[in-house]
Amino acid sequence: MPQTVAHAEDGHELWLRASPLPAPQRSALRHQATRLQTTAHGPTARLALAELQRGLARLGATPARGGKGGTITLELVQDSRINDEGFHITARPDGQTVIAARREIGLLYGVFHYLRLAATGAPLATLDLASSPRVQLRVLNHWDNLDGVVERGYSGRSIWDWWRLPDWRDTLYTEYARANASLGINGVVVNNVNAKSTSLTAPYIAKLAAIAGELRPWGIRVYLSARWTAPMEIGGLKSADPLDPAVAAWWRAKSDEIYAAIPDFGGFLVKANSEGQPGPQDYRRSHAEGANMLAAAVKPHGGVVMWRAFVYAHDNPDDRAKQAYNDFQPLDGQFADNVLVQVKNGAIDFQPREPFHPLFGAMPKTNLMMEFQITKEYVGQSTHLTYLGTLFSETLQADTQAKGTGSTVAKVVDGTLDGHRLTGMAGVANIGADRDWSGSIFNQADWYAFGRLAWDPELSPETIAREWAAQTFGPAPKVVNTVTTIMMPSREAAVDYMTPLGLAHVMGTGHHYGPAPWVSHLARPEWNPVYYHKADAQGIGFDRSAKGSNAISQYAPPIAQKLSDPATTDERQLLWFHHLPWDYRLKNGEALWSGMVHHYDAGVAQVARMQVQWDSLQPYIDKERFAKTQAFLAIQRREAQWWRDASIAYFQSVNHLDLPSGSAKPA
Ligand code: GCU
Repeated sequence: MPQTVAHAEDGHELWLRASPLPAPQRSALRHQATRLQTTAHGPTARLALAELQRGLARLGATPARGGKGGTITLELVQDSRINDEGFHITARPDGQTVIAARREIGLLYGVFHYLRLAATGAPLATLDLASSPRVQLRVLNHWDNLDGVVERGYSGRSIWDWWRLPDWRDTLYTEYARANASLGINGVVVNNVNAKSTSLTAPYIAKLAAIAGELRPWGIRVYLSARWTAPMEIGGLKSADPLDPAVAAWWRAKSDEIYAAIPDFGGFLVKANSEGQPGPQDYRRSHAEGANMLAAAVKPHGGVVMWRAFVYAHDNPDDRAKQAYNDFQPLDGQFADNVLVQVKNGAIDFQPREPFHPLFGAMPKTNLMMEFQITKEYVGQSTHLTYLGTLFSETLQADTQAKGTGSTVAKVVDGTLDGHRLTGMAGVANIGADRDWSGSIFNQADWYAFGRLAWDPELSPETIAREWAAQTFGPAPKVVNTVTTIMMPSREAAVDYMTPLGLAHVMGTGHHYGPAPWVSHLARPEWNPVYYHKADAQGIGFDRSAKGSNAISQYAPPIAQKLSDPATTDERQLLWFHHLPWDYRLKNGEALWSGMVHHYDAGVAQVARMQVQWDSLQPYIDKERFAKTQAFLAIQRREAQWWRDASIAYFQSVNHLDLPSGSAKPA
């Protein structure tokens, strides 16, 4: 019989559900934690103590009253090894464990870390561990509309119940805050970047203040996406020109109004002059002029502006991938010090694989923050199991070479490369009102991975997967090992069956689910998948070398040099940067066409393996979560096959080549 059967579905617990530990660990922990005390008594310290009690109980180690054993003390200290949100945990052989921090929030983070160590079976008897977040703003971006519909949401309606706010504050807010705090997430943009001005009206400010009140004790600030033309739409002004004094005054007054209701309001997120959204360019002003005007309005209150670099307009006929760099790089040095330019991980749009965005490393005088998409718009949405920890980490570990070898994206984002103190990482949330929060059990891992990497961009995605698995399904080695084995190659499998060898944006129009590489009729060229793969009888791929769009020139010279030649381009990005004949020889000697087909096959085969691996866990996992994941894997398997067959059939209709020998036949 298996040691542990993870108990039945209680979706709201996420990775905080914690199963009882095996008996020896349980009694060691109980001995370690016989008395719990805190020397700080503010609201967050009280939460920290309560979380410690609750977490220990979940692990089966409720402290025995009056029992003999060790003490865990939460204590505020002056400690120069940690920053204001960091913590320092020491455990001595005499049974004294101290979770120390400079602020109460550090105590809460320290407690969650201690519980994470316990839940994952780490030794706790002697500890000397200091940890501080490497990134300052660790923020979820909700693409939630005020009517409850979540743009690119695959897990039900928005958790924000605007109708019943501010009077009714759903207990969900606390559960949500707690899950975020357990990872160190400290900010939440509540509304969609495609924003409506309504969110800035007095009734909505009052509703937001109620949400802020629920999240505050957990160390989380609220932010709003701002619509550029709000001064006209709700302020009665004739213009939204950032250099018009009346416009600046309106935003100042609006900011004052928000801060009067929410003193720790974080600031604004702005999508401007992109996909039809208004912005300063409508008035012939630059992104910097726009951002700085808004930044001045929140500056007296300590707020920031997160200004998105995802710009996507009509003026990029040759290569959409170049626009953000062209618009933003020349503005380096012009942004106010409380502006962060928020850059997506890649230059197109959250594809299963993208090369890192060329703006990273190219704007040393600007606070650049990362934007990842946790919700899997292009990566199988709710049903496909495609762990994104590997995707996030791949981008963070990419070397921009901006200041020589080792100038990783992570060092741009954490500020160390260029000496920035205001740093940030945003994740487009995959959270909705579904009972499991994220549309599937395994999608919870992407939220988890985002939070952990925002705290420490150097963490390995495998470590994160193991942690998540142990907390979500219990610490039995068979379960943790198998779940990790399923997760780690899962995103590469999706790359294989969707967009092998650097292909991109071949998904169905609008919904972005399923294959549609044949679509060519849409009004704007870059809406059509054919624009991205450019397959014809001779070859396939987007030439971004000097012979083509020359997007490679946006990278630092050593990188551009490598990318200029297909032979020195990472094969995983080959067709992103090069248009190549179908018989181009890959490194393993195969022709490009045959290599592509083998990747499609490999993706499908990997999903089949994931099914077998998951099935082997049946005795260890509760019925509900087992069955749901099993059903989703069956969907994924069928759809991986669909991706493969449809993509190959389409490309064959263009290149008229036979299937290479040994490849699977269409299902
Ligand atoms: C993608 C996505 C949109 C979203 C946009 C953005 O294009 O499909 O729904 O609004 O990204 O990031 O602004």
